[in-house]
Amino acid sequence: MAVRPIRIYGDPVLREKTRPVGDTTAALRLLAEDLVDTMFDAEGIGLAAPQVGEPVRMYVVNLGAIAPELFLDRRGPSLDGEPEHLVLVNPRVVKREGAQTGDEGCLSFPDLYEKVTRPEVVRIEATDLEGRPVEIEGSGLLARVLVHEYDHLEGVLFIDHLSKLRQQFLRGKLRKLKESGQAV
Ligand code: NI
Repeated sequence: MAVRPIRIYGDPVLREKTRPVGDTTAALRLLAEDLVDTMFDAEGIGLAAPQVGEPVRMYVVNLGAIAPELFLDRRGPSLDGEPEHLVLVNPRVVKREGAQTGDEGCLSFPDLYEKVTRPEVVRIEATDLEGRPVEIEGSGLLARVLVHEYDHLEGVLFIDHLSKLRQQFLRGKLRKLKESGQAV
């Protein structure tokens, strides 16, 4: 178990096409553990594999950071009890409903928070590390984190959802972030 460096905007891995996870290997288990450790260390609500430099279809969610009433449905042995975190392997978004607009950030964009519109309700089907089905449906912040992390697997970043005007306004800030990221 280890905390890995989080890749910052400008790192090409954040735009890479991710590959589906095949059989669960020791390396994959280690990656999942490291994702969880890194997410908690950074006090994040979610973290996707590309953010630690691994372009594979897996992300983790900090369930303890989410209010219980936002969980609309949860199925799968890895959600039994009240786990502090969830590992989603090969996730698919099977429902997006409604809309919500609110502040959003990303661990790959330190100190940048912007208003982003997301679906109000999101449902994900995935598997856990044992290959067992996991289904989770949430609203509010849970819906937001579920699609934000899913976007990372598609090489999509939260700034992509901002208006062209807003992106233009942030250009200088983003350029600085890009330079700082590449310098590491
Ligand atoms: Ni992010």
